[in-house]
Parts: sequence; C-alpha cells; structure tokens
Amino acid sequence: MKFLKYEMILSKCNAVTTCAWMLLSLFPVVIAEDALFNSSSIQTVHRGMSVNISCNYKPSNDSDGFTVELHSNSKLCSVMKSNKSWIKQSCKDHCRFVWIPETVQMSFEVSNLQINDTGTYKCVVTRLIPPPSQLLREEKTFVQVIVPPNVSVSHEGALGEFPTIVCRSEGFYPSALEQMWMRNGEFQNASLTYSINKTNPDGSFTLHSFLNTSDCVNYSCWVNHSTLSQPTILTLTPADCYENRDWYKENGWIVFVTSALFFLTILIIMIV
Ligand SMILES: *[C@@H]1O[C@H](CO)[C@@H](O)[C@H](O)[C@H]1NC(C)=O
Ligand SMILES: *[C@@H]1O[C@H](CO)[C@@H](O)[C@H](O)[C@H]1NC(C)=O
Ligand SMILES: *[C@@H]1O[C@H](CO)[C@@H](O)[C@H](O)[C@H]1NC(C)=O
Ligand SMILES: *[C@@H]1O[C@H](CO)[C@@H](O)[C@H](O)[C@H]1NC(C)=O
Ligand SMILES: *[C@@H]1O[C@H](CO)[C@@H](O)[C@H](O)[C@H]1NC(C)=O
Ligand SMILES: *[C@@H]1O[C@H](CO)[C@@H](O)[C@H](O)[C@H]1NC(C)=O
Ligand SMILES: *[C@@H]1O[C@H](CO)[C@@H](O)[C@H](O)[C@H]1NC(C)=O
Ligand SMILES: *[C@@H]1O[C@H](CO)[C@@H](O)[C@H](O)[C@H]1NC(C)=O
Ligand SMILES: *[C@@H]1O[C@H](CO)[C@@H](O)[C@H](O)[C@H]1NC(C)=O
Ligand SMILES: *[C@@H]1O[C@H](CO)[C@@H](O)[C@H](O)[C@H]1NC(C)=O
Repeated sequence: MKFLKYEMILSKCNAVTTCAWMLLSLFPVVIAEDALFNSSSIQTVHRGMSVNISCNYKPSNDSDGFTVELHSNSKLCSVMKSNKSWIKQSCKDHCRFVWIPETVQMSFEVSNLQINDTGTYKCVVTRLIPPPSQLLREEKTFVQVIVPPNVSVSHEGALGEFPTIVCRSEGFYPSALEQMWMRNGEFQNASLTYSINKTNPDGSFTLHSFLNTSDCVNYSCWVNHSTLSQPTILTLTPADCYENRDWYKENGWIVFVTSALFFLTILIIMIV
C-alpha cells in the first residue's frame, strides 16, 4: 500500500496544475486507501457523439468542500463545491459537469468527440474542507472513438483487355480492418492484391486494394471492421465489366481515328 501511495502522487504530478496545487497546499496529502479503486471502464463512441464519464463517487457529508476535476492529457474541466453549493466552474468548450442531486451522481459530459479524443479520462475528487485535503476518488475511463469505413468498388482505368478493379475503405478508425477480394463468391489469394494503406490528416485510415481481373465474372470486395455488425460485400457484376470493355473499345477507336487524322493533316501540309 505504500507503493500505491507513491504511485498516486507521481501520477498527480503528471498534470502540471495539480502538481502546482500540491506544492502550494499547506495541508499534507493523505490518501484514503479504501476509497481509491483503480477500476477502469471502456466506453466506445462514434465520432461526433457524446460520452458521460462517471466519477462513481457519492459525497458522504453535505457540508464538505471539495473539487471535482476531469483530466485527459490536460485538465479539461474543474468545479468546486463549498457551503452546499457549486461555486466555480471552468471547462473547455466541449466539456460539461453534470450533477444530479436526486441520485447524488457526479459526471462529466464530453461532446462532439473526434478521433484524437481517444484516450484515458480521469475524474478526480479532492476534499479541501475540512482539512487536511484528501484525495477521495480517482476514476478512470477509457474512451475509444470509432468511425466505420466508407466502402466503394470501381474500375480503375483499363490498362489491358480486362479492367483493374479497386476497392476503397476510407476514413475508418481504429486501424484494424480486413479487406479481401472474392471471385464468384470465392476468396482470392491475397498475393494477387496490391494495397495502399494511408493515414488521413484527421487520424483515420484509408485502405485501397487493387486487383487485375482476368475475366468478366462477379468480383466482390469483402470488408470487416469492429464498427460493422456484419462484413460489407460490394459486387461488380459481369455487366459492369463488359460495359467497361465496350468503353475501352470505343475510346481505342477514337484514339485511332484522332491519330489517323493527325497524320493525314501532316501529310497534306507536307504535300502543299
Ligand atoms: C490497482 O492498482 C494496484 C497497484 O497499482 C494493482 O496492483 C492492481 O492490479 C490494480 N487493479 C486493477 C483492477 O487494475
Ligand atoms: C449523459 O448524461 C446526461 C445527464 O444525465 C444525459 O442527458 C445524456 O443523455 C447522457 N449522455 C450520454 C451520451 O449518455
Ligand atoms: C459532516 O461534517 C461536519 C463538519 O465537518 C461534522 O460536524 C459532521 O459530523 C459530519 N457529518 C457526518 C455524517 O460525517
Ligand atoms: C463515401 O464516399 C463517397 C465517394 O467518395 C462520397 O460521395 C460519400 O459522401 C462518402 N460518404 C460518407 C458518409 O462519408
Ligand atoms: C453474380 O452476381 C449476381 C447478382 O449480384 C447473382 O445473381 C449471380 O448469381 C452471381 N453469379 C455468380 C456465379 O456468383
Ligand atoms: C494461394 O497461393 C498458395 C501459394 O502461393 C497456393 O498454394 C494456393 O493454392 C493458392 N490458393 C488459391 C485459392 O489459389
Ligand atoms: C496489375 O497490372 C499492372 C500493369 O500490368 C501491374 O503493374 C501491376 O503490378 C499488376 N497488379 C497486380 C496486383 O498484379
Ligand atoms: C495500416 O497501417 C496502420 C499503421 O501503419 C497499421 O496499424 C495497420 O495494421 C495497417 N492496416 C492494414 C490493413 O494493413
Ligand atoms: C483533433 O482533431 C480535430 C478534428 O480532426 C482538430 O480540429 C483538432 O485540432 C485536433 N486536436 C488536437 C489537439 O490535435
Ligand atoms: C468481423 O470483425 C469483428 C471484430 O473486428 C469480429 O468479431 C467478427 O468475428 C468478424 N466477422 C467475420 C465474419 O470475420
């Protein structure tokens, strides 16, 4: 338990403001060991949504004065209770303290979550009155922000007779994603696929997979991600393939006619 005490003090010093407050404090910090449960829950939230981070602590004495703070990498929100009322509140834009008097519940609401908001959040309750100041609770919650992939399949310019097809899974988070090609419903060897995997500026991922087709049959892209209740399967049917080949033939003909006309023009100019 002595080790626990040191660990708690060091972790408090990670937040510069808390550390400064500790140095300024005239009262020694006493750790109420039985009140410190390092339980950590996980909340999975879609981007743009909100999450409630519970402090999981009920103040036992109405006349106590204490602070409640929300930390992630920095301090996001802090409120103070004194003389049976909440007197001070300073919070970042997307954070809000929620107090439900009926159930004596304290929590923080963090809204419009973005990918870079993924991380561990701590609710820290510290009693100031009566002295000595005492850490009453430190409740950790891990917030995992998720974004499903936007999946599409299409023909990439036909280099040869049969088109190269591309499957795009865009803007997903976290990075773990399975993307595979199927030919007439059978999984294709991954070695036939060429993939490009990149990180977007917002921290999300994009995966493009290319496959050189060798016939006009059903080709499907199969994608699985933790955000999907079942794998997404998008199919290019033979009709799409023939359409593409017709387009290629038409354009090949146009290229032929254009270059023939060009040489004819040069020939006429030379003769003249
Ligand atoms: C709580 O912390 C103690 C000491 O740091 C550790 O031994 C214990 O495994 C932790 N419990 C949980 C549930 O994380
Ligand atoms: C968070 O709690 C507040 C107040 O209890 C409630 O109105 C809101 O719907 C909750 N939000 C989520 C995402 O659970
Ligand atoms: C609450 O705190 C007050 C003043 O600090 C004290 O007189 C009182 O006994 C406490 N009540 C309980 C139930 O602990
Ligand atoms: C998915 O991608 C398509 C094509 O790039 C785009 O038009 C569409 O708006 C995207 N959908 C979402 C939900 O981002
Ligand atoms: C190809 O796909 C179409 C429609 O998606 C389906 O009706 C047909 O049975 C498929 N053919 C094969 C050989 O899988
Ligand atoms: C996939 O490739 C391996 C080795 O290159 C080969 O043994 C196997 O038969 C291939 N599977 C299919 C379905 O083509
Ligand atoms: C597909 O064909 C192009 C052009 O012939 C080649 O550069 C590429 O490596 C091929 N891709 C795969 C996955 O075989
Ligand atoms: C894409 O790249 C990320 C980061 O480099 C990696 O974690 C992930 O496993 C890669 N995904 C695939 C499908 O290769
Ligand atoms: C987090 O991401 C959002 C949107 O992608 C961006 O506006 C914000 O500046 C980022 N914050 C940090 C600290 O990087
Ligand atoms: C899809 O992925 C999820 C988690 O990422 C996994 O639990 C599930 O079994 C996968 N489904 C298939 C059909 O592979």
